[in-house]
Amino acid sequence: MTAGAEDRAAVLDRLFDVRGLGAVVTGAASGIGLAIAEVLASCGARVTLADADADGVAREAVRLAGQGADVRSAVVDVADPVAVDTVLREAAEVHGSLDVVFANAGMSAGPGPTTPDGQLTAVDQARWDRVIQVNLGGVFATLQAAARHVSDGGRVVVTSSIAGLAGDPMVGYAYAAAKAGVVALVHQASADLGRRGVLVNAIAPGSIRTNIAGGRIREPEVAEAFASATVLGRIGDPSEVQGLALFLASPASSYVTGATFTVDGGATAMRPLPAVRATPVVGALPG
Ligand SMILES: NC(=O)c1ccc[n+]([C@@H]2O[C@H](COP(=O)([O-])OP(=O)(O)OC[C@H]3O[C@@H](n4cnc5c(N)ncnc54)[C@H](O)[C@@H]3O)[C@@H](O)[C@H]2O)c1
Repeated sequence: MTAGAEDRAAVLDRLFDVRGLGAVVTGAASGIGLAIAEVLASCGARVTLADADADGVAREAVRLAGQGADVRSAVVDVADPVAVDTVLREAAEVHGSLDVVFANAGMSAGPGPTTPDGQLTAVDQARWDRVIQVNLGGVFATLQAAARHVSDGGRVVVTSSIAGLAGDPMVGYAYAAAKAGVVALVHQASADLGRRGVLVNAIAPGSIRTNIAGGRIREPEVAEAFASATVLGRIGDPSEVQGLALFLASPASSYVTGATFTVDGGATAMRPLPAVRATPVVGALPG
């Protein structure tokens, strides 16, 4: 080691130490939320895994606790603001403080305008309402509860999507609208909570192999279609969101707020591929 150089472990501790922090991750029974809860717990945070799937979240919390993690589970529908507030308040009590909140729970809105069922005239109103309640309202409820219960200097991280940053004809209207909406919520809340030193940021994943939409992305043709829209030529694994999640929860991101980070294998770096371009309609322009 060079004289005066900081020890490797000391550098990692200075930048990425989350030991003892109290955390809540919503949507933690599966996929990206579970991967986030796992990395925080592995690094020594005290984590509440919150999810609407009571069996799933209890099972994962027991599994992680069996590996020595300081974790517990809570059942919540993020569309219910009172229930969300209760989960965050109880987490603060049980963990001693609430320092990190991941507003990650979300659901699919079904197909997008590339298929007839996802086109404007076919969108089901009840499904639109539910997706907006969960994917936009649930994030707002989690931000509000975090504003009440998170410690000064804490972190709030929202899971958006690349479908909220640019048009994505593969996903449903409500999904795209909600994921764009949460980016705006992150802008607003970063200004609001910045005065308390609370940092608010968003992760915008591309195509990640999870159980969303019934795990459709695991089907080879679907995976291939999504993979072809990336620079890396493949879809991602939930574990590939862990590094960014840990960064946003840790001292390393102390001057980062109001930002949205893509984890998408380069999908947003590319112009649309022929497969997702609309077919030109001759004579469609007025006049
Ligand atoms: N997988 C992807 O390609 C992808 C891409 C961009 C964004 N996202 C977003 O990532 C987040 C996590 O999704 P995922 O892909 O890991 O899917 P997933 O289905 O594997 O996990 C989502 C979890 O959220 C829970 N959940 C759903 N509705 C809930 C509610 N109302 N209250 C509480 N919990 C609820 C589910 O029970 C599930 O455990 C979502 O916000 C999703 O929109 C996923």
